[in-house]
Amino acid sequence: MLSDVIDLLADPVDGTPLRAGDESWRTIVSGSGHSYDVARRGYVTLVGGAGLRYTGDDADMITAREAFLAGGHFAPFVEAVSDAVADVLDDNHVSENDRPSVVEIGAGTGYYLAHTLDAVPGSRGIGIDVSVPAAKRLAHCHPRVGAVIADAWARLPLRDDSIDAVTVIFAPRNAAEFARVLTPEGQVVVLTPDVGHLGELRAPLGIIDVEEGKVERMITQASGYLVPVGEPEHVEFVMHLDQASIAAQIGMSPSARHIHPKVLAERIADLPPVMEVTARATVTRLARDPRTLGFNGS
Ligand SMILES: C[S@@+](CC[C@H](N)C(=O)[O-])C[C@H]1O[C@@H](n2cnc3c(N)ncnc32)[C@H](O)[C@@H]1O
Repeated sequence: MLSDVIDLLADPVDGTPLRAGDESWRTIVSGSGHSYDVARRGYVTLVGGAGLRYTGDDADMITAREAFLAGGHFAPFVEAVSDAVADVLDDNHVSENDRPSVVEIGAGTGYYLAHTLDAVPGSRGIGIDVSVPAAKRLAHCHPRVGAVIADAWARLPLRDDSIDAVTVIFAPRNAAEFARVLTPEGQVVVLTPDVGHLGELRAPLGIIDVEEGKVERMITQASGYLVPVGEPEHVEFVMHLDQASIAAQIGMSPSARHIHPKVLAERIADLPPVMEVTARATVTRLARDPRTLGFNGS
């Protein structure tokens, strides 16, 4: 709930602290007097004056994502991310009593964030997404999650030096903002798809492969703000997907927008009833660049 994480939230306009505007949490107000309505579904939109430039995943994509993830096909990815967050907290001696703070950027349905909070006792989370259908799911994905609509590319509605772990799973990364909101010891855990991810589906369905060097490019783009910690961890496993699961997998990805639904349905119908499909991705941990330590005054 938003009340679990209010001490981590900040006005997206000027960074002043946010607090409940009334006893029933119908609004959230900032130190500078800005007021933000809490939707009946339990999420809050924390966006500055320019408004939202993106809409994110639409309702169909979010429904497809929910269906695919509910099948448990990505369980090894979920475990790898949760383990990495637990390692970050252990390495930094952040204990249950510290109420560890975890923020997922582009959190979608909250599937990963909910599992991470279950794996880390006492933790609380903020799920940030620009999509309204995603925020509706996020608000109810876990009792210790606060759901926020915000743009990952804008100033994040989070206080300086406040977040123990930021997670990014197949979603946008804003290294400068991550460095600002992390505690000095905090880290970002990023899951990026690798070349060959869903490889068996690419030719038959006509979807493009992941480009080479994605992790290296991400590390280069983050430089000046974040530096890698240890070696990236490659995670690879085989899934057994029936045609409905394959349709859900494609429906939750941008590929769904590039292929006509009728053509896609025909191509999926031509596949074997159950296929072995490889999942491949890399978990990378990044810490604040020591050269930026102090840029928040810490
Ligand atoms: C590929 S999905 C990943 C969702 C989730 N992390 C998961 O793996 O289940 C990318 C998510 O990022 C969100 N997104 C895209 N652009 C965004 C932005 N600028 N700010 C915040 N979220 C964004 C989308 O709405 C979508 O939910």
